[in-house]
Amino acid sequence: MEITIARSYEEMSAISAGIIAREIKRKHDLVLGLATGDTPVGTYKELVKIFKEEGLDFSKVTTFNLDEYVGLPPLHKNSYNYFMWENLFKHINITPSKVFVPQGNTEDPEEFCAWYEAQIKKAGGIDLQILGIGGDGHIAFNEPGSSFASPTRVKALFEQTIVDNSRFFDKKEDVPRFAITMGVGTILEAKKILMIVNGKRKADVVAQFIEGPVTSQITASALQLHRHVNVVLDAEAASRLKRTEYYNWVRDNKHLVQKEVGR
Ligand code: F6R
Repeated sequence: MEITIARSYEEMSAISAGIIAREIKRKHDLVLGLATGDTPVGTYKELVKIFKEEGLDFSKVTTFNLDEYVGLPPLHKNSYNYFMWENLFKHINITPSKVFVPQGNTEDPEEFCAWYEAQIKKAGGIDLQILGIGGDGHIAFNEPGSSFASPTRVKALFEQTIVDNSRFFDKKEDVPRFAITMGVGTILEAKKILMIVNGKRKADVVAQFIEGPVTSQITASALQLHRHVNVVLDAEAASRLKRTEYYNWVRDNKHLVQKEVGR
């Protein structure tokens, strides 16, 4: 895992958008996995800026979102589909037929989940997956106890997630109890992963997933098993990490690796 500690939310967003833009420039038909929530809003704003100012081309990019609430139609103001169009898609030159968000109001969730997995495979797999982390340590809606081999499926939301996400709804009772979510297994199959985290309220869970044991009770800890993970944090989210000096040294001295190898 490569850990980058940014000074602020703004810097975290700029670094994350820079990583995504670099991957799109490298591969114009990138398959990009996307997350919703408060965390990536700044990153998406930065991407829109890069699109407007530098002409970053999204027209060949295919996107797959991590999750969607069961029962919400795509145009519902609390749906993740709506979130994505408001915060990113409508501001860039994405090709609508290349956008995939799980369909919350599907009549047959099981069949839909199998179809979604098949679409990811058909696209050649996810090149870069963006993630946030929940207060309970979840990635996507893989709540505590989710299998590390899990595919896209319907998952019941953990009480803490319902409470956390009630801020987006009029009242807690309106938060759906189930979501369609990519599995931990689906996420681990992505070629690269970019995890973004900000804020003091995530500091404990960040320390657990980076420096604690690998456990299905904190599903983000599964990322310790992945070959290519970038974690970009703001200073508050990083405040409970024990080895920040080491992470900063590694980040600032990457060029030395080249020197060592060249000897
Ligand atoms: C959203 C998702 C979730 C969020 C997580 C953090 O698509 O998959 O795992 O990334 O709940 O949410 P925020 O960013 O709102 O704190």
